[in-house]
Amino acid sequence: MSVVFLLLLVIIKIFIFKYIREVFRVKNILKNVPSPSCPKIIGHVSYFKDPKIVLPLLTKTAHEYGGVVKMHIFGKHLLLICDPEKAELVLSSNKLLNKSWEYKFFHRWLGTGLLTSGPEKWKKTRKILTPTFHFQILEQYINVFNSQSNIFVQKLKNHIDSGSFDVYPYVTLLTLDVICEAAMGVNVHAQNNQNSKYVQSVQKMSRIIKRRVISLHKFIDWIYYFSSDFKKEAEALKVLHGYTNSVISKRKEELLRENFVNENKEGKQRMAFLDLLLHAKIDGVPLSNEEIRQEVDTFMFEGHDTTASAVAFSLYSLSQNSLVQTKAFEEQYKLFGDDQQRCATYNELQNMKYLEIVIKEVLRLYPSVFYFGRETIEDIEIDGFLIPKGVHLVTLAYGIHRKPEIFFDPEKFDPNRFLPENNINRHPYSFVPFSAGPRNCIGQKFAMLEMKTILSTTLRRYEILPVENFKPAIAPDVILKSRNGVMISLRKRLVNNNSL
Ligand code: HEM
Repeated sequence: MSVVFLLLLVIIKIFIFKYIREVFRVKNILKNVPSPSCPKIIGHVSYFKDPKIVLPLLTKTAHEYGGVVKMHIFGKHLLLICDPEKAELVLSSNKLLNKSWEYKFFHRWLGTGLLTSGPEKWKKTRKILTPTFHFQILEQYINVFNSQSNIFVQKLKNHIDSGSFDVYPYVTLLTLDVICEAAMGVNVHAQNNQNSKYVQSVQKMSRIIKRRVISLHKFIDWIYYFSSDFKKEAEALKVLHGYTNSVISKRKEELLRENFVNENKEGKQRMAFLDLLLHAKIDGVPLSNEEIRQEVDTFMFEGHDTTASAVAFSLYSLSQNSLVQTKAFEEQYKLFGDDQQRCATYNELQNMKYLEIVIKEVLRLYPSVFYFGRETIEDIEIDGFLIPKGVHLVTLAYGIHRKPEIFFDPEKFDPNRFLPENNINRHPYSFVPFSAGPRNCIGQKFAMLEMKTILSTTLRRYEILPVENFKPAIAPDVILKSRNGVMISLRKRLVNNNSL
């Protein structure tokens, strides 16, 4: 036996010994947390095997075991949290700001932008980005929401009275158009040109990351490097980073010439997020091109698929609940009267209170981001509990939103749950579609305004009708999606004053 081989054997033994010792240490510290029985070595792998049932199964298990359940996969421990009080302890803690390991799948695309960065960088970036979501700035995006929503309803025209269709592809191009214009100040015309290389690469990256998340073997970097997806990822990233970098450079040059403003069609001055990033400084130093690129790409990812999923499930829910749809349209009629083609203003969007509770109920049942992962990087004590280093904390929004003690008959679609009088005694962490605490969604107000604009524009043009026997097959991809599409059908809305 060669010396090298012996050395390798010793290293492997030390590694395995350390690993086993750590597994037992974690197990011992967490011994009082309930856990369903499982095979010793592989652990609870079977719970995660079938994407069709993983979410209902984890929800049911966590509820049965009192809201927090311990699981392990080959000795790697996770705590599954389906209880608002425990979720608050995790999400509001300033000691638990590290995202869990699966967020690294985004690193090649998004680098360490706001979503994926560790606490130190995150704190500084969050501070400079928070003002970019001030309502005065959001107000400037209403024109973008309206003009893109108008293109969307035009695109849907072909489907009037012509049977069922999957609305998801239309919605995803719409939200991509919106976020491109808002984040970079450029119109990529995704709705009119879905063959654009940039648009295709964004969609390709989302699919590649999804496949990585659900294939156990691709978790390991060096195995992934040999897969065909790795090559496809490299191609997509070349297009994506190339595009963002060229927009940044062009904008930098323009700003030098035209003094930091961007004129929209009405001649009003508007600033894209990119302009604000080009203005920003951390500790007195402007952001580098690479830092700006990471933040813009983060907005591109976080800002389009999440919103697309919520809008598509909203259209589906409205199609299935005709009384809710009638009420939602009545609210629109009160605001717009016979002038149904008019664009909504910021104030009108704020006043769409019923539409708001409809969207909330959609996000309760179909939370686009269905879980939030954190990782302890040292032993941490929270509220008297010791959580050992290396534990994966999984806060399952999908499960919290289905706690029957909080949301009676949880699978029923009922926006009235969110009427102010029904909210009074509810724990603030029992509804967390945008997460909560310091690492909550920075874009939630933007998203609400965007979703309201899209739904308001659509409701005023069309009656959204159900498709017989269609039920979305919920898929826990990177974002919550439906494996069999989001099928609806459309009829032109005829406004009849007497019926309102
Ligand atoms: C319905 C739409 C949306 C939903 C449901 C949603 C949900 C979320 C959730 C749950 C998180 C926390 C993720 C985690 O802890 O892993 C998050 C983070 C984030 N979201 Fe959203 N989001 C939406 C739309 C948007 C939009 C439109 C933007 C940008 C314009 C955006 C930008 C971000 C960013 C940058 C983060 C990282 C925040 C941080 O770590 O400080 N999101 N989002």
